[in-house]
Formats: sequence, C-alpha cells, structure tokens
Amino acid sequence: MRGKFITLEGGEGCGKSTQLKLLADYLQNKGIEIVQTKEPGSTPEGKILRELLVTGDKDKFDAISECLLYYADRRCNLTKVVWPALEQGKWVISDRYADSTEAYQYYGYDKRVPLETLQNLYQIVAGDFKPDLTIILDIEPETGMRRSFAKAATMAVKELRFESRQLEFHHNLRRGFLEIAEREPERCVVLNADADIETIHQKIVEIVEQRLEI
Ligand SMILES: Nc1ncnc2c1ncn2[C@@H]1O[C@H](COP(=O)(O)OP(=O)(O)O)[C@@H](O)[C@H]1O
Ligand SMILES: [Mg+2]
Repeated sequence: MRGKFITLEGGEGCGKSTQLKLLADYLQNKGIEIVQTKEPGSTPEGKILRELLVTGDKDKFDAISECLLYYADRRCNLTKVVWPALEQGKWVISDRYADSTEAYQYYGYDKRVPLETLQNLYQIVAGDFKPDLTIILDIEPETGMRRSFAKAATMAVKELRFESRQLEFHHNLRRGFLEIAEREPERCVVLNADADIETIHQKIVEIVEQRLEI
C-alpha cells in the first residue's frame, strides 16, 4: 500500500525541524517506516540549490529565477526521495513543501510571482500529487525570528537569508500560510506554535492519528 505524505509548514523558527523529528520518532515507534525529507536540499543536487537559496544577499535573485530554483529542487525531492519511498509503502514527512513556495514567492514578496504561475509550475513538477496532510505551525513572526537567530548563533553555516528581511515580509508570510489553510481545509491544519515543544508534539500526534487513521 502506498505510504502517506505529511508536510510541515510555517515561517522561520516556528518549530518545523523540531517537530518533524519528534513525529518521525513517534511514527517509527508505531512500526511505520519513515523517510524524513526537506525542501530545499534533500538530494545532493538539492543541497547545492539550498546553499544558493538560503545564504547570501536577500536580493541576489530576481523573483522568477529564485522560484525556478525551488521547483528544480522540488522535482529532485519528489523523483529521488518522496515518490520512491511512498511506492515502497513508507511514510514521508517533509520539512517545508509547496505551501512555502506560495507563502514566500507570492504572499511574502507581495505578489511578485503570480499565484497562477506558481500553480502552473507546480503542475509541471508534481502533476496532481499533493500531501495527504499539511500541518502549518503558526507563530508571531517576532517569536519565530527570535528562536531562529538564537539557533543560528550556534551553527557554523548561517542560513539567514530570509531572516534578514523586514518583519513585514514575515507577517505577509504568516497571512499567506493562513490563507492557504482556509483554501484547503481538507488537507491543512493550523496549530498554534507558541506553546512548549511537547504540547505541540502531542497535538500533532492527535491530528495525524485522526486524519490519517492510524
Ligand atoms: N515550541 C518551542 N518553544 C521554544 N523553542 C522552540 C520551540 N520549538 C522549537 N524551538 C527552538 O527554536 C529554534 C528553531 O526551531 P526549528 O525547529 O529549527 O524551527 P524551524 O525549522 O521551523 O525554523 C530551535 O533552536 C528550537 O530548539
Ligand atoms: Mg528548520
């Protein structure tokens, strides 16, 4: 039987990477084989794209070039990681996926890439394939950024290209994720991410168990 595809979405520092690991461990303990992935950068080629995308000057790309790099990375993630794993009956959890592209390239950047363009590109790259469940971790940008900067201070490579943007950008992003969730309530669940790590984890487990019937 084909596995399930779960995506975790939300702005910088909302807790995606933290919660992905906890959820993966939880499901694995239940006997489900899990593949963890992320965008950008889940494949060797994607890692090169990731470095281009998450470091350096915030204005180094025009909007379309930047967006095409994300879709190239997504296609690598799907063809080499996500689809083969699902075929083998494994479950895949992705740290960011297509909603991040809409939130960043459309809502965050003030509609510089039309939503229709993003959706057409998605169709080329992924066809009708969609996540079975998307969890959007919602947080005040100020709180998320504080967490992100504290984390970056402990890391050798500073992935702060987006954190260097104005708070307004991050508020637009947040609004974008919430609009996406309103548009697709059967796929998306919004969770308040301003709680302690364990509380959020428990809520995620509840949602996964309800929605994916495990
Ligand atoms: N619920 C939480 N409360 C406080 N700190 C958190 C919480 N979730 C994550 N963190 C911390 O905030 C930082 C960013 O979390 P992370 O999971 O890397 O976020 P993201 O992947 O969404 O950018 C990390 O240092 C992490 O330990
Ligand atoms: Mg992360």
